[in-house]
Amino acid sequence: MQIKNAVVLVTGANRGLGHAFVNALLEAGAAKIYAAARDPSSITLAGVTPIQLDVTNAADITAAAERAALT
Ligand SMILES: NC(=O)c1ccc[n+]([C@@H]2O[C@H](COP(=O)([O-])OP(=O)(O)OC[C@H]3O[C@@H](n4cnc5c(N)ncnc54)[C@H](OP(=O)(O)O)[C@@H]3O)[C@@H](O)[C@H]2O)c1
Repeated sequence: MQIKNAVVLVTGANRGLGHAFVNALLEAGAAKIYAAARDPSSITLAGVTPIQLDVTNAADITAAAERAALT
């Protein structure tokens, strides 16, 4: 998988595996990282774009997909 210059979206990016994925994507040179969380204020990493997303909420999913599609 080509990560360098990719646009990516990580769910649950505020902690645990999601947070670790974001760090790895930053190190690998992703061009843009949407860091999604139920509470976007819990995203503390620099260099990412926080985005609100509860994966059980259809309206959240639609809004996140539309926002990320704009890059
Ligand atoms: N850690 C491991 O070694 C490992 C290995 C294999 C599989 N897994 C599986 O991988 C998943 C993540 O593991 P983890 O260790 O990173 O768990 P974790 O530290 O408990 O983190 C869970 C993450 O999921 C988010 N989340 C929960 N419900 C959500 C929802 N409805 N919408 C959006 N985000 C939601 C949480 O956000 P909030 O802060 O808002 O709660 C948090 O960011 C789990 O299903 C786990 O069973 C983990």
